[in-house]
Amino acid sequence: MEGGWPTGGRLLLCLAVSLLLQGKGDTFTINCSGFDQLGVDPAAFQAAFDRKTFRPVINYSNPTQVNISFTLSAILEVDAQLQLLTSFLWINLIWDNPFISWNPEECVGIQKLTVSAENLWIPDIFILEAMDVDRAPSGLSAYVNSEGRIRYDRPVRVTSICNLDIFYFPFDQQNCTFTFTSFLYTVDNMLLGMNKEVWEIADTSRDILQTQGEWEFLGINKATPRLLVGNSVYDRIIFYVAIRRRPRLYVINLLVPSSFLVAIDALSFYLPAESGNRAPFKITLLLGYNVFLLMMNDLLPASGSPLISVYFALCLSLMVLSLLETIFITYMLNLATTKPPPIPPWLHSLLLHCTSPMKCCPTAPQKGNKDLGLTPAHLPGLKEPVEFVGKVPSPQEAELNGSPGSARGQQEDKAQQQHLVSLWVQFSHMMDTLLFRLYLLFMATFVITVIVLWNT
Ligand SMILES: *[C@@H]1O[C@H](CO)[C@@H](O)[C@H](O)[C@H]1NC(C)=O
Ligand SMILES: *[C@@H]1O[C@H](CO)[C@@H](O)[C@H](O)[C@H]1NC(C)=O
Ligand SMILES: *[C@@H]1O[C@H](CO)[C@@H](O)[C@H](O)[C@H]1NC(C)=O
Ligand SMILES: *[C@@H]1O[C@H](CO)[C@@H](O)[C@H](O)[C@H]1NC(C)=O
Repeated sequence: MEGGWPTGGRLLLCLAVSLLLQGKGDTFTINCSGFDQLGVDPAAFQAAFDRKTFRPVINYSNPTQVNISFTLSAILEVDAQLQLLTSFLWINLIWDNPFISWNPEECVGIQKLTVSAENLWIPDIFILEAMDVDRAPSGLSAYVNSEGRIRYDRPVRVTSICNLDIFYFPFDQQNCTFTFTSFLYTVDNMLLGMNKEVWEIADTSRDILQTQGEWEFLGINKATPRLLVGNSVYDRIIFYVAIRRRPRLYVINLLVPSSFLVAIDALSFYLPAESGNRAPFKITLLLGYNVFLLMMNDLLPASGSPLISVYFALCLSLMVLSLLETIFITYMLNLATTKPPPIPPWLHSLLLHCTSPMKCCPTAPQKGNKDLGLTPAHLPGLKEPVEFVGKVPSPQEAELNGSPGSARGQQEDKAQQQHLVSLWVQFSHMMDTLLFRLYLLFMATFVITVIVLWNT
């Protein structure tokens, strides 16, 4: 430094200037002669270390520039109930300390040194969302290079608040923020910058992150709005970290079994209504579904109302509806075979209309058509309800048997009665089919709606 100054003409002035500059340089330049024999001399740094209480600037009106970056090294937990994200960050801060500098050529080529962080002024950068004490390990060091640029890295476990939106659970995507700001220094004293681009931060995080967990890292965005509190303006950097839940566990454990149960429920409409097996079967399914919901309740988020809860509620209502339908049809069949009320004319014509072939109104299941509509005279051909039919009219038969001599009229009466029964049974089957189709329509609408909602 001294050699750069001309020592010609005005010797006195130049000497004075050079002495002044040398003196100033000496104050902040560390004399490292002898580092190669005795190691780093703590006394050489003592002057700089003594200043650690104050922000290291020569002109105190100038702000300190602190550049920030971080690496997301783990996503430990996302708590939907407390709205907390627990993650592990490696925070990296870089700033300049003008009181530390040396000439590497004089100092056996030393370019950078590690210095215990407690000997240095450290900027008080913290994360605004952090809801827990800083759990960084103590006794960390910082790198100091020959120009006084300090690089300070520390690992922190951050429990930060994050606005979780679990409506789309388990296909949800969350956007959590990390806001880096100084706790004390306003923009007059401290400016924040980035020492890496966001895509670099995202790429490093993606490489480092343990990807085996429940959450998949998507990317990072940033924004740098200033924060105004009262009259003070604080610099801050907001990072948006986007993560997505891996839904496989929930699809396998929640959605697939639930869909199977509903599918079985739908298929159980093909159990003949007359056999009396259908209602117990559906009740068993309903019971099974309730047990399933109880067991799987732990997997659901404890708060909020995700779409999946609506899905479960709708599955349950579908099952209840189908059970109600079965009860209704069983009642109708029972009524038809015990004491069939007279058929209203419109219903009669409707039945006639529908049973004639090649009509496309809701038709009863094939067996019903064949056995009832097309062969009304041969009612014994009807297999299932034959027990009802044979059993139940017995009181009337007994009554009729009491008056002999009217065997023909009795037979006609019986045939008419059987015809009425067959018509009612046929009507019940028609209703069954119609309601089954409505059920399918409702189910399809519901499934499509849910899928569409989940895909948006
Ligand atoms: C550096 O310190 C050594 C002794 O520790 C001294 O001899 C030398 O003159 C000093 N160099 C400068 C440039 O002050
Ligand atoms: C210190 O910085 C302020 C603002 O940058 C400037 O106005 C002032 O002249 C500086 N003081 C000295 C002694 O350089
Ligand atoms: C911080 O970053 C800015 C721009 O990226 C750069 O000009 C400045 O020198 C950096 N400062 C430090 C202390 O790294
Ligand atoms: C996260 O939210 C912020 C603001 O709400 C938005 O600017 C940013 O693009 C979002 N990031 C992602 C990845 O969705």
